[in-house]
This record gives sequence, structure tokens and C-alpha cells, in this order.
Amino acid sequence: MAKLLHIQASPMHDRSYSARAAKAFLEAYRKAHPADTVEALDLWAADLPAFDGTAASGKYKVMRGHPHTEAEARAWSRVVETITHFKSFDKYVVSSPMWNFGVPWSWSRRWPPAPMTSSPLR
Ligand SMILES: Cc1cc2nc3c(=O)[nH]c(=O)nc-3n(C[C@H](O)[C@H](O)[C@H](O)COP(=O)(O)O)c2cc1C
Repeated sequence: MAKLLHIQASPMHDRSYSARAAKAFLEAYRKAHPADTVEALDLWAADLPAFDGTAASGKYKVMRGHPHTEAEARAWSRVVETITHFKSFDKYVVSSPMWNFGVPWSWSRRWPPAPMTSSPLR
């Protein structure tokens, strides 16, 4: 029994082409894998931590073995919590619009897992 995370990255919701393609895919997926669980993450509604200077500084302190300030500890624990949840899935489906030859900036700046999934804590 696998866990699949659908990351929905278009703010257009029902009018979104990528969301509709993902919906069709996930309907077929559920039929083919009825025992699997599917969780959705709407990046425009989710309460994700901003990966800001405090979080970045928290990461460098972990890498260097230095103690966190209170603010860094708070920011870093939210990052770890988010990544731990992200890594608890076996499969991922990302449906995203292309904006300016990439993903919408508003979600890429809030989404630290990409460079961190291999070693989030170091
Ligand atoms: C701000 C913005 C930037 C876009 N940039 C691109 C682009 O670089 N290349 C492209 O092919 N389409 C671009 N588009 C068009 C979208 O990719 C297209 O409308 C797509 O259907 C959006 O995905 P969605 O329907 O899932 O929201 C852009 C649209 C917007 C609103």
C-alpha cells in the first residue's frame, strides 16, 4: 500500500488545465491502486514555511554544528516538519502551470524540499 502526494500548483483550480489533467490521472490511478492513499496539497492554500534568511541560517548552523537562536530553532523545526511529511510519501504527482518558463515563483520560494530531500537535516 503506497502513499501518493499530489502537489497542485495552479491557482486556477477548476479552470486549470494541469489540475484537470492531474484529476484524470488520479482517477485512473485510484482505480488501478485501490489500496493506495492519495493526499492533495494545494500550494496556494497550504501553510508552508517561508524558506527565508532565518531558515537558511538555521540550516547552515546545523551543517556547522552551531547552536540555533530561538528564531532559527523555530524556523528550522517547521522546515524539518514539512520535509518529514513530504518524505513520508512513496510517490509524487506535481501539476503545475508554466509561468515565465518555470514554476510560479510564489510556490518555488516556499518549497524547500527540492534541494533538501536527499539530506534535509545536514
Ligand atoms: C504569469 C504567466 C506566465 C506564463 N508563462 C508561460 C510561459 O513561459 N510559457 C508558456 O508556454 N506558457 C506560459 N503561460 C501560460 C500558461 O502556462 C497556461 O495558461 C497554462 O494553461 C497554465 O496552467 P494551468 O491551466 O494549469 O493554470 C503563462 C501564464 C501566466 C498567467
